[in-house]
Amino acid sequence: MNLNSLSELTEEEKYQHFMERIERDEKIEAGDWMPDDYRKALIKLISSHGVSEIMGALPEKEWVPKAPTINRKLSIMAKVQDEMGHGQLLLRVAEDLLKPFGKTREDLLQDLFSKKLKFHNVFHMPSPTWADAAIIAWLVDGAAILTQTMLLKTSYGPYARALKRICQEESFHAKHGESLVLALASGTPKQKQMLQESLNRWWEPLLMFFGPKSKKDIGHSSVDLNMKYKIRFKTNEELRQEFFTKYVPKIQLLGLTIPDETVHFDEEKQEWVYQEPDWNKFKQVVSGNGPRSDARINLRKESYMDNQWVREALTSSKKIESVIM
Ligand SMILES: [Fe+2]
Ligand SMILES: [Fe+2]
Repeated sequence: MNLNSLSELTEEEKYQHFMERIERDEKIEAGDWMPDDYRKALIKLISSHGVSEIMGALPEKEWVPKAPTINRKLSIMAKVQDEMGHGQLLLRVAEDLLKPFGKTREDLLQDLFSKKLKFHNVFHMPSPTWADAAIIAWLVDGAAILTQTMLLKTSYGPYARALKRICQEESFHAKHGESLVLALASGTPKQKQMLQESLNRWWEPLLMFFGPKSKKDIGHSSVDLNMKYKIRFKTNEELRQEFFTKYVPKIQLLGLTIPDETVHFDEEKQEWVYQEPDWNKFKQVVSGNGPRSDARINLRKESYMDNQWVREALTSSKKIESVIM
């Protein structure tokens, strides 16, 4: 169907045409007609993913100056740069979707500073030891890879293409994390203890990372809508179960103890049993009341203000260029 014939359709027919495209697994592009709730769901998901990448670089950035060897410093620095790049890429994708609402990428950053735009719970947490850098790269990136691999088939074309590059880089992050964890797990008793303490700190935030099981846990969930529009294909719980299957045996193999005695695979139900995280705490943390929320948001804001002159210089040079040409 060409654009002219689409413009003659009623809103209802446009919606039907859109849903047929979704059913056929066609990719929706930025300039295509899309229902408002699809656009809003994408903006929410992609802008939050984008700022999570940027804020997610900060706990590891803290360890760049303190990395134990030059090689470790180079690899953690490369990872931090990758994460910032992922954030920029995703905010570009979100920016296109925001146009009909008259909003820009700058508005998204202002929303981040005012805590209106939320980022992943894990990036509100402290990273007090080098083992935290290891656990973040191994397990937080591991959890993100499960989510992002599921999103690779998403119905929105620009997001799918950005994710293709992001997922390739994420697999290097997981390898970097694996190498850090292996070094600590086979190190001195003090290093092993440091790794165990870090796992204890990160276990609950990691379970929270996938989000609550169902609407009743937290009052509202956009999962159903995202599944209807094939933005995503798995529920939060399915992803969390995949995480257990992939990582619980590896954690145990390393000689670490999972800080939840109830964790086991129930053969009858064919699912992992575990202690539910405190979802009220989760809500508090993602609302910007986590232990490191203010410090990290302020750091990001300061760096945004410090670079204001660069944005102004670029905008004015573009204006001069357009006058000359
Ligand atoms: Fe990333
Ligand atoms: Fe990553």
